[in-house]
Amino acid sequence: MADNAADDLKTLEAQGLAELHGCADEAALRGWNTRFFGDKGLVKAALGKLSTIPKDQRGPYGKEVNRVKEDLTGAYDAALAEAKDKALQASLTANPLDVTLPGRSRPRGRLHPATQILRQIYAIFADLGFQVYRTREVETDELNFECLNMPAHHPARDMWDTFFTTTPGVVLRTHTSPGQIHVMREAAGKPIRVILPGMCYRNEAISTRSEIQFYQVEGLVIGEGVTMADLKGTITAFARRMFGPERQVRIRSSYFPFTEPSIEVDIDWPADDPNRDRLTKGTGWLEILGAGMVHPNVLRAGGYDPDKVTGFAFGMGPQRMLMLKHAIDDIRLFWQNDLRFLRQF
Ligand code: FA5
Repeated sequence: MADNAADDLKTLEAQGLAELHGCADEAALRGWNTRFFGDKGLVKAALGKLSTIPKDQRGPYGKEVNRVKEDLTGAYDAALAEAKDKALQASLTANPLDVTLPGRSRPRGRLHPATQILRQIYAIFADLGFQVYRTREVETDELNFECLNMPAHHPARDMWDTFFTTTPGVVLRTHTSPGQIHVMREAAGKPIRVILPGMCYRNEAISTRSEIQFYQVEGLVIGEGVTMADLKGTITAFARRMFGPERQVRIRSSYFPFTEPSIEVDIDWPADDPNRDRLTKGTGWLEILGAGMVHPNVLRAGGYDPDKVTGFAFGMGPQRMLMLKHAIDDIRLFWQNDLRFLRQF
């Protein structure tokens, strides 16, 4: 190889290393890289010279130029890594990262207390062999009243302050009882053991115990030889599971057009609760459900023969039961969306 060509390469290498070591940061290094390894860079130019070298000297020149190229590339990579590391260390020192800071916790939702008690009710009745059956909230007058033994103008209709719709004969259901007819018609003569949960609507004066929109859970059992003793046993077993063995269950006779005989069931309010008198109107008891033996006319409306089968039904208010369980003094709290109330459950 001609001496001057070898010298040029040595100079290129020395110049490259010297300039590289003079680069203060990453930006300067990248500039260096363009100057030496860019399309018009010095290394490219040195490689390009190969064709001008006499043939017999090309081999040694090629070897040398490649060595210089690799030397400079290696030095550049090392310098770049070092510069990046330095920049990182500098930024860590300038803006220290406190890894001991606690993480930001995500706000977690929870089930509404009404949903929680509905699920408890489903679980208890599931253990007693009941299935869940859902029916519609917008009902016909026929199913909400007539099939339940309340023909038009029957005075018992006054027990339910009804929301009528603009469509004649269509109402918002005042109770879950019309669901009984749906189940019977679908089961078509087979034995039945279901609960029917859902929302009900009444045009009531809103108070601490009454809302215009509230949940009910209906129960219906139909079969051969079903008696009042089965009803009392079921309700008592349910109340003991829901409220605990120490709470008392009171069964009173009552009246519903769709059951005969009819009863109402109360639970005693905790004696040590200062709100007891106000919430129980001084009686110490709060009603949780109405029930009774399904009236023969209702069985007929559902397609069952009252001479062959009997049945019992009940309708309970889960929100009233929640009030009892937790001594909640105002039913309106359920739909007010006040997180201070809801977070307690
Ligand atoms: C009924 O609605 C009957 N359908 C229950 C029934 C079913 C009887 C099957 C016989 C056979 P009542 O109007 O009493 O009955 O309501 C039943 C329960 O719903 C009440 O005990 C109460 O817990 C709840 N409830 C009634 N009205 C309201 C209201 N405005 N706000 C909150 N809960 C209510």
